[in-house]
Parts: sequence; structure tokens; C-alpha cells
Amino acid sequence: MINRYNILLLFFAILFSKLVIAQNNDYVLSTPPMGFMTWNYFGLDINETEIKEIADAMVESDLRDLGYDYIFIDDGWQGGRDKYNNIIPDPIKFPSGMKDLVDYVHSKNMKIGIYSDAAQLTCGGYTASLGFEFQDAKTFAEWGFDYLKYDYCGAPPDRETAIARYSKMSEALKESGKDIALGICEWGDRKPWLWASKAGGQLWRTTADIRDKWYSGVDIENPQDLHSVGAGIIDILNINAELYEYARPNAWNDPDMLIVGLYGRKGAPSSELNGSGCSDIEYRSQMSLWCLMAAPLMITCDVRNMNAETKEILTNKDIIEINQDKLGKQAKRVYNQDEVQIFVKPLHNNDVAIGVLNTSNEDKKINFSLTEFNIPKKNKAKDLWSKQVLKIRKDQKIKVKIKPHETKVYRLLE
Ligand code: GLA
Repeated sequence: MINRYNILLLFFAILFSKLVIAQNNDYVLSTPPMGFMTWNYFGLDINETEIKEIADAMVESDLRDLGYDYIFIDDGWQGGRDKYNNIIPDPIKFPSGMKDLVDYVHSKNMKIGIYSDAAQLTCGGYTASLGFEFQDAKTFAEWGFDYLKYDYCGAPPDRETAIARYSKMSEALKESGKDIALGICEWGDRKPWLWASKAGGQLWRTTADIRDKWYSGVDIENPQDLHSVGAGIIDILNINAELYEYARPNAWNDPDMLIVGLYGRKGAPSSELNGSGCSDIEYRSQMSLWCLMAAPLMITCDVRNMNAETKEILTNKDIIEINQDKLGKQAKRVYNQDEVQIFVKPLHNNDVAIGVLNTSNEDKKINFSLTEFNIPKKNKAKDLWSKQVLKIRKDQKIKVKIKPHETKVYRLLE
């Protein structure tokens, strides 16, 4: 019998099931994602064998256990569409199919990401998802993917279209039947920090593609010029540092991949636009600064053949802890003068991380007081690279000696 009571019950049952579905699909990246991304090392030349080797190396080198638990497949995997318009992988690069590769990576206790673009073709000229959002999201879910990097080559310049296209893919992922996180990649050109989270993204690129270099040397007026000049570590830092207020759990500024350990690898996209490589001091600075900025940590060097320096940089547990701190704050740049930059990142247990960068080409001696940056009184400072613990004097003054392009990072303790 249909009465008012039954209708009310039905109404609440439907509401409850919708809420549960919404919750299940709410993929939360409570700390910045970490892993390996194929782009800077392999470019478009990827295949299942090498990706499996990379996954193995992530486990063997302890990187996975340190938190780098994603394999992010970038552009170049696609083989067009079948007669039902389902997107398919390149059968020569991925002869066992995507599900097999996803299962392999999952069997290593890792997660795996895929790549597409909100236009007809990707940046590399491959099949993309515009007009096929729901069908492709379903395919990615059926294969078992956990993450989608969604690029923006071939799309119009205005912000409204970008919001509409990213929101549509986010909807499609929510309906796909699997939790899949969404990485927005329109390079900061439409100020995504203002809208990307609402459009369903968990992270958003803030700049043009990183190249394997320290600094373009160009005083950039318009950040979009970096697309043609080529962005180095310092170019990207100068844009991303200003966006500290927008980062929070499940909503991260993404200043692009780590170039640590690439050493100017020839033929890789990161070597274009004068990306001739960096020194280990500079790579260590990138790791320090990206961790202070709560950036996603996407390794791109060949983790199967890392030298001792690269391994030491990428596996520094103390620095990774700063990046993964559950408070989820991006460091604020509190000082930027005379080629010295100072960053302060509050941590969940009342500790504070402080980073000091020397962008000049000379050694620097820097004196500052913690009180001038409103840091509550601290007694000790642990240097997170040398591991030395220093006592902080009563007047809270700190003296630091820094080499050219070096970044010192301290964890300040009660
Ligand atoms: C764009 C992105 C890069 C990479 C390439 C792939 O340039 O910004 O990170 O994904 O496309 O073609």
C-alpha cells in the first residue's frame, strides 16, 4: 500500500544511497601524491616492459616504502579507438593490455595513473577524450586506474571552457564506478588555483613544463612566456611560492615533476629549451623546495640506475616527512631579498620547517631571528640534510652558511 509514510521512507532510502555513492567516489589525496612519472625520462616512447621494470625498481630501491607509491603513465600510451569508440592502448607498446599492467602495479602494492587531454588530441598528438569523457572514464575505471592526469593541449584559451571541460571529466570519473583522482594540467595559464578544486581536481599544475635547468635567467613578466623560454627550478619556484594560501589537503599546487637525477638526459622533453642539466646541489634544492611547498613528488629519472647522490636526495626521510606533513600547509616565503629566500612551513605537531635558499653564485652567511618571522619560541633545530641538531640560543637568532644554489632545511623543535 502506498501511503505518505512509505513515500517518505523511499525518499530517505534514495537520499542515503546517493550520499554513500558520493562518499565512495570522493577520492581524497590528504597528502601530496608521490611516485614516478614517465614523461621526462621516456617522453612518448613508453611501453609495458619498461613500466614494469620501473615499478620493480621503486620497490627494490625502497622508494615505494618511503611513500612514492604511484606509477603515473604520461602521454604516448594510446592506440586510437576501436569500432565501439572505446579508447585502446597502442598494441605494440602494450601488447598485454592495460588491465594486465594495472594488475601488475597493484600487485606491488602501488597505485597507477593514466593520461588524457580535454581536446581531440593530446600534446603528443594522440587520441584524447573530448566528447568521450564518460566512455573513457569508464574504460579507465574498468582497467583499474587510480588517477588521471588531464592535459589541455588543443583547447581554447578561455577559463570558462576549461572549467566546463574539467568539471565534465570529474563528473565522468565520479560515475565511473571507481575512485579516480584528477590532476589538472593547464599549466597555470587560467589561474587554476582559483577554480580547479571546485571543478573536481585534487591538484593543478601552476606553471609551464619544467626543463632540466636551474633558472632561465629571464625576468619573466608574463608567466606564459615560460612556455617558450623553458622553465627552470627557480622560474617555477617564483610562481608557485606565491600561491601558498591555495594549497590544502586534497587540493595541491603542482609545480611539475622532479628533475632530480636527470643530468640533462639527451632526447628527453626536459632537455629541450636549454635543459642541459643541474648539479647535485641544485637537485637537492629542488627536493627541499618542493617538499617545503607541499608539492606532489613525481620522480622522473631512471630509478633502475640511480647514482648514490640521486638516491640520497630522493630517499631523505626527514625531508619527505616535511612534504607529507598532515597539516597540509605549503610554506610561506617570508623573505626574498639579496638573492636569499626564506620559507616557513608550519607542521602538525607544532614543529616548524624552515628553508633557506641562496640563489646567488657566491657563498653566503645569513643571520636572522626566528621572532622576525613570528615563529613561536624553539629550542633546537635539526638540519635535515646533515642531520646535525643545533641548540637555538635564547635570543632565537640563527646563523647559516650556504653554498651557491644550496637550500638548507631545518626542523625547529620545542
Ligand atoms: C604537456 C604536459 C606535460 C606532458 C606532455 C605530454 O606538455 O604539461 O607534463 O604531459 O604534455 O605530451
